[in-house]
Amino acid sequence: MRTIIEPFKIKTVEPIRWTTPEVRRLQLERAHHNVFLLPAEEVLIDLLTDSGTAAMSTRQWAVMMEGDESYAGSRSFQRFETAVKAIFGYRHVIPTHQGRAAERILFACACKKGDVVPNNTHFDTTRANVEYVGAEAVDLVIPEGKDPGNRHPFKGNMDVGALESLIERVGREKIPLVMLTVTNNSGGGQPVSMENVRAVSRVCRRHRIPLYFDACRFAENAYFIKEREPGFGDHSPEKIAHEMFSYGDGCTMSAKKDGLVNIGGFLCTNDDALARQEENLLILTEGYPTYGGLAGRDLEAIAVGLYEALEEDYLRYRITSTAYLGRHIAEHGVPIVQPPGGHAIYIDARGFLPHIPPEEFPGVALAGELYLEGGIRSVEIGTLMFGERAHMDLVRLAIPRRVYTQSHIDYVVETVLEVWKRRDRIRGLKLTYEAQFLRHFTAHLKPV
Ligand SMILES: Cc1ncc(COP(=O)(O)O)c(C=O)c1O
Repeated sequence: MRTIIEPFKIKTVEPIRWTTPEVRRLQLERAHHNVFLLPAEEVLIDLLTDSGTAAMSTRQWAVMMEGDESYAGSRSFQRFETAVKAIFGYRHVIPTHQGRAAERILFACACKKGDVVPNNTHFDTTRANVEYVGAEAVDLVIPEGKDPGNRHPFKGNMDVGALESLIERVGREKIPLVMLTVTNNSGGGQPVSMENVRAVSRVCRRHRIPLYFDACRFAENAYFIKEREPGFGDHSPEKIAHEMFSYGDGCTMSAKKDGLVNIGGFLCTNDDALARQEENLLILTEGYPTYGGLAGRDLEAIAVGLYEALEEDYLRYRITSTAYLGRHIAEHGVPIVQPPGGHAIYIDARGFLPHIPPEEFPGVALAGELYLEGGIRSVEIGTLMFGERAHMDLVRLAIPRRVYTQSHIDYVVETVLEVWKRRDRIRGLKLTYEAQFLRHFTAHLKPV
């Protein structure tokens, strides 16, 4: 069989709403041309993010009924901790309400002003949390990772030579930890190879610097290793994930991605003293260490979701359907980050709209047009998100897990191609309001 079907049946449905082009134009103006400010009800197909938007399984809903809501020492925490330890293998597991809470606690405890944190590419919240404690966030992705058309199979890899030079230049005592983001969201959802993980780990161990994973999409990364890296074809995604984590000392995790839940996250470490400090900060800001800002039922859903995300049938469908979207727009000339990433297709907005300079936000302009054309919400990852540091202007079409079918994806393809036909007439934007941190969430813009 050539067709890879969705490996699930649909038991509950949620209607989506059609709007007219006139209504969408009005809504976009009201939202100051920032799709984050659109009411979700006015969106037909929401590809803003794959984070917290997954459809949960019958098993997840079933175990939620078993949620133990005890304040301390709940059975649900034990199940959650057992699942996380079995997959990730770290000694301490600290639940948090989502990924950025884990980041905040990690960086607040491990970093100080003047420190430097290398990463393949920091995600926006990761960078903001590093900078918030006065440290410097340095991106060290391989050069191929910055070239949208380059088909390197592991474009999320860290440049190991650049890491060595950085350590030599600033000194190991200024680097409290090194991070690897799997898959590399801001760099196009591109995977990191096991070979690269081993090489980065060797450098870190030689300099006695802890290695942490930003593990949000660890299952998708494991599947790419299985598919693309020699020697892993017969390994299960779980075995691959296990080996990958064995080269590190801890992780931050947003379970809203490969935990297949709508809320939740955690922080892991093998460092006993750091874990104590982190738990104390957790108690101050998130909650007691056996719930960390989550309900018992949320912990139950994560414990099941982490395993479901590692199922091979699921991962095959997931990665194939993302690639399907990429292939069908790319074959008509739409420039995308190649090869397609795991959770999203990234359109190269500078290539799509070469007449709009980065300072006029080509990615934001394109995201607006996709909404106007077909009610599709996407997101800019570029100059609005990262300012002058942005080396690409991308529009991310992130695919929620187990939510949309192939016909939805076909509709997205048609919409992108309609916008592609009239790309010469699209104009850039300028900012009319920006916040100090993470400005893309709340920015106001208007056409130039
Ligand atoms: C790579 C990466 N790290 C961290 C986060 C932050 O996670 P959360 O949104 O749960 O705070 C995200 C979320 O999109 C992400 O993609």
